Amino acid sequence: MNVLVIGSGGREHALAWKIAASPLVSRLYCAPGNGGIAEIAECIDLKPLDFDAIVRFCREAKIDFVVVGPEDPLVNGLVDRLEREGIKSFGPSAAAARLEGSKGFTKDLCAEFGIPTAAYGRFSDAAAAKAFAREKGAPIVVKADGLAAGKGVIIAETAADAEAAIDEIFSGRFGAAGAEVVIEEFLEGEEASFFALCDGEHALALATAQDHKRVHDGDQGPNTGGMGAYSPAPVLTPDLVERVMREIIEPTVQAMKKRGTPFKGVLFAGLMITEKGPQLIEYNARFGDPETQVLMTRLNSDILPALIATHDGTLDRVALEWKDDAALTVVMAANGYPGDYRKNTEIGGLDAAGRVPNVNIFHAGTCVENGRILSTGGRVLNVTATGATVAAAQESAYRAIALIQWPDGFCRSDIGWRAIERERQTA
Ligand code: AMP
Ligand code: GLY
Repeated sequence: MNVLVIGSGGREHALAWKIAASPLVSRLYCAPGNGGIAEIAECIDLKPLDFDAIVRFCREAKIDFVVVGPEDPLVNGLVDRLEREGIKSFGPSAAAARLEGSKGFTKDLCAEFGIPTAAYGRFSDAAAAKAFAREKGAPIVVKADGLAAGKGVIIAETAADAEAAIDEIFSGRFGAAGAEVVIEEFLEGEEASFFALCDGEHALALATAQDHKRVHDGDQGPNTGGMGAYSPAPVLTPDLVERVMREIIEPTVQAMKKRGTPFKGVLFAGLMITEKGPQLIEYNARFGDPETQVLMTRLNSDILPALIATHDGTLDRVALEWKDDAALTVVMAANGYPGDYRKNTEIGGLDAAGRVPNVNIFHAGTCVENGRILSTGGRVLNVTATGATVAAAQESAYRAIALIQWPDGFCRSDIGWRAIERERQTA
């Protein structure tokens, strides 16, 4: 069959790499893709929000299945459009993607169906929001309701910070995403990423993972899309996985079905593992980036039948096998990220780095120009390695990074530290 992957990040490179290995695939395309994806798929210069052009291409290239990577096309209805055109795809409808597109929607659903999450209030005017924040006291979390490219969440340490955050969101800086504010109790614990494929009725948990959101070593500095990840995440014990499925994922799948907007695709729960147990921080309606890079690396089974089963409603007949080995990925980002950074800087040494045993490099923001690899974004490369332990995978990843020549880029030097500390304690 012919498959089209939508997106251009490290997540899409990892998905395309895994899909390319499927014996079911005859031709693989990616729109728009990147410098690394170009080596395994035919990259098509289409914008993920240009639905007309995507449909046209699907007809021309006789695409049998579309895999949508990023949230924007999902929230804006790409899957609905493809469905209307009779083209099968992986991902939720716009109505189901509201789990990611509106924090208030998700909090109300949790409240109605008893899904554990931080106490909250929803507000469309600043005075009421401030009164609620004052009453609850700091620390408190202030969020823009809609998609704000990861920048709409402020952890306020003081009441004054909370008020400033509320004013900032209502100032219009986040556009429509800031028309409403959600204020939440601050949860204490360790974060983990949880992924389950869903077909509207059934849910299938994937392997566990954790990412590092902060830009600097020691989990310091501003939040980013993710500076590295690893799988498995030892904090998610088999007991906890079972609880997350029973208390969070399955009730969500049933709630969405009951509301007439069944969720199909991958449900990505950002969790806080608190003393009381797992609590939902937020949902995403897509795969995580960079978590997907480690999940695809550890997956033994063919991913494509599982993705198709989410569309067909046959996920109960799918089982996935995972490698025992751990996987770890280190993100290399352009100097300055997550603030301003330069583009079109040259990256060398990738061939040598890719030859380090057990290493695979997924590209995020790159392009190829006259045979040279250039950076095109903030997060640029995902140097991914496997090993018997997270510590062994980490060693291989950093050995490869030492061979990459990119003076305009940087990476964290401690990806995996929590898992490695746990490995040392149990060794
Ligand atoms: P979100 O975009 O909702 O995932 O939030 C971004 C980050 O803010 C999360 O990954 C957490 O680190 C933090 N965060 C969000 N909500 C809370 C909360 N209620 N308590 C503590 N930390 C939170
Ligand atoms: N790594 C977190 C995310 O994909 O949102």
